[in-house]
Amino acid sequence: MTEYRTSGGLMSYGERGEGPGDPLVLLHGFPLNRKMWAPQVEAFSATRRVITPDYPGFGASPRPCAQPDMRYYAEGVLGLLDKLGLDRVVLGGLSMGGYVAFACLRLFPERISALLLANTRPDPDDEDVRETRRKMARRIAEEGVEVIPELQIDRLFAPEVLKNNKKVVEFVRGIMLDSSPDGAVAALGAMRDRPDSTDLLGKINVPTLVISGEKDTIATPEVMGEMAANIPGSHYHIISEAGHLSNLEAPEEFNTTLREFLEKV
Ligand code: MLT
Repeated sequence: MTEYRTSGGLMSYGERGEGPGDPLVLLHGFPLNRKMWAPQVEAFSATRRVITPDYPGFGASPRPCAQPDMRYYAEGVLGLLDKLGLDRVVLGGLSMGGYVAFACLRLFPERISALLLANTRPDPDDEDVRETRRKMARRIAEEGVEVIPELQIDRLFAPEVLKNNKKVVEFVRGIMLDSSPDGAVAALGAMRDRPDSTDLLGKINVPTLVISGEKDTIATPEVMGEMAANIPGSHYHIISEAGHLSNLEAPEEFNTTLREFLEKV
């Protein structure tokens, strides 16, 4: 596993492929890690360099040392671009990865040549969601990461996928259990206190692809449609058979949509 130290701490990352286009950097959701991008790494590394960091406390990255904010994770991404000598990248994020992508847009917009926002939302948490995150953090701290699948897994998939695609559900369960309690609690705090990114949308001036899942109850197609409408010139695609983890639930449609987008940027 490749590791590097940044101003934000120590992070691990995966790297595969090469090609003429800007490298594709994919930011994972919560409480997952870079392995969630397996179908995209497989598909896109044939023609392009694909880089997938693990946030501190997830996957192979050591845990963070204090309560981070979203900027902390973006600093980690910036440190990785510097370490690899990458001037410009196509940046993609799913869910929490989208929240980190917004922080990256604030921190280093000049290094982002195109953007993918999947199953994410620009607005901050309301008080109910903040309270749910507090409770979840408490349970993880007291009982360990073993409680995560029970608390989270049903919310992440379209009902049909949950029922009929045990392979992908078990894959995600395994990824969740690779999280550290400190990493999960830290990410919950950072998501709970994340800033409103709605004001950022109108300032995005790079080609942007927005992908949602029709059955996503966390970042609903309505919220994402409004987000896309506020990003100048963005392309919006809804995957009808997917919930919150659209890249894993419908990898072929996700990859086709992303490929068509990348061919144009
Ligand atoms: C994620 O998939 O990253 C999380 O579900 C995002 C969230 O809880 O807001």
